[in-house]
Amino acid sequence: MDRIAITGGARLEGEIVISGAKNSAIKLMAASLLTDQPLRLTNMPRLADTRFLGQLLRRLGTDIVEQDGDDGAETILHTREIVSAFAPYELVRQMRASFNVLGPLIARTGHAKVSLPGGCTIGARPVDLHLEALRALGASIDLHEGYVYAQAPRGLVGAEIEFPFVSVGATEHVMLAAVLAKGETVLKNAAREPELGDLAECLNKMGAQVSGAGTSTIRIQGVDHLNGATHSVIPDRIETGTFALAAAMAGGEVRLTKTRSDFVDTLLDKMVEAGVEVIRHNDGMTIKRNGARLKAVEIETDPYPGFATDLQAQFMALMTLADGESVIKETIFENRFMHAPELARLGADILVSGGEARVRGVETLEGAQVMATDLRASVSLVIAALAARGETVVSRVYHLDRGFERLEEKLSACGANVRRIAGTGEPED
Ligand code: EPZ
Repeated sequence: MDRIAITGGARLEGEIVISGAKNSAIKLMAASLLTDQPLRLTNMPRLADTRFLGQLLRRLGTDIVEQDGDDGAETILHTREIVSAFAPYELVRQMRASFNVLGPLIARTGHAKVSLPGGCTIGARPVDLHLEALRALGASIDLHEGYVYAQAPRGLVGAEIEFPFVSVGATEHVMLAAVLAKGETVLKNAAREPELGDLAECLNKMGAQVSGAGTSTIRIQGVDHLNGATHSVIPDRIETGTFALAAAMAGGEVRLTKTRSDFVDTLLDKMVEAGVEVIRHNDGMTIKRNGARLKAVEIETDPYPGFATDLQAQFMALMTLADGESVIKETIFENRFMHAPELARLGADILVSGGEARVRGVETLEGAQVMATDLRASVSLVIAALAARGETVVSRVYHLDRGFERLEEKLSACGANVRRIAGTGEPED
């Protein structure tokens, strides 16, 4: 398996162009199951996760063409008919969000058999809210031997659904199913993440009637059928925040372009509080740090527009060298501090207790061998390594490849000393 070696100490100077959002792209790809016409997605990131979902969609009957266009990479998905409404375990377990094909399959064909996604390193991540909501839309759902068997032979019917707590995946999943249901669906306590707005916009271009996305009440008036459309994927706010934190950690001046600063306002405010200079532009932002030591600040993760759980590990990396103690509270996932012991291998001083981590800033970090445990945890190790003395080698970088497009290339272009070491095929740990 590949590893990434980083020699710390280089300041970052230059521009990084942000890719399309992974967590939007994979829901938009699933939307292609809802129409027999082509859906053309532009500004697509090319990632392991989009590849995994592509494999599943091909099996369900989607023709997929990938090409380059004026707005970055493009994927054209065309599902003339659903040839199979069966999503097997081998394909769903590779990428949890594949489970979201369940709703569109029921909506289009009236039945589906989809594997439950199983557990995940950052938490149990059940899908009970997804299943309850699909039941509320009239689907009959049985669970046997790790599979969801769903039936709605006379189609789905709109309903009022109030989520007991905010779930991005469940909100998106119901939206994908309810657009073809009979009558109106009202979602209360819906997630407000920008990816929800992107999905609603794309579905509306396809002929759906979704309003209120981006607020906690979403209304969906069901329609009989959907058309093809062309849609540009929104910028990846987690990649944006990650490179902003990398620039702050290494020091220097980096301009992030083809993105939106308003998607990461909560993060940028915390970075300014810590002493980082942030200049917002129409197409992104510039992050500057002149080498002065940062101040420790506290964060608590929350659903959007709160501090993103997907940026918590990267922020913790920044705090390892700050002056003072930073308290980091994780409220979304129960096991999302696995990067803490790996950061400690670089010399960080972190005490984890339940959903809280106390990071006492140290003067220096020192390069070491570390192991990636999940997608965002792995990039936090890269960020810490940018400011560590000597060389850090991060193993299990397949986690990184799931969600960051050309990470080494983008960092190296700004002067970071980062290289990929191709794996030998031998197990590495
Ligand atoms: C999405 O996951 C993202 N994934 C995650 O990003 C992100 O961390 C998360 O939202 C929160 O922002 C994708 O978009 C593919 P949730 P999702 O449903 O939809 C619990 C990354 O690194 N819950 O909002 O799965 C759940 O266990 C990934 O790109 C239930 O209990 O998150 C969690 O504690 C990691 N029952 C909380 O809700 C359910 O049926 C929020 O999860 C559903 C969720």
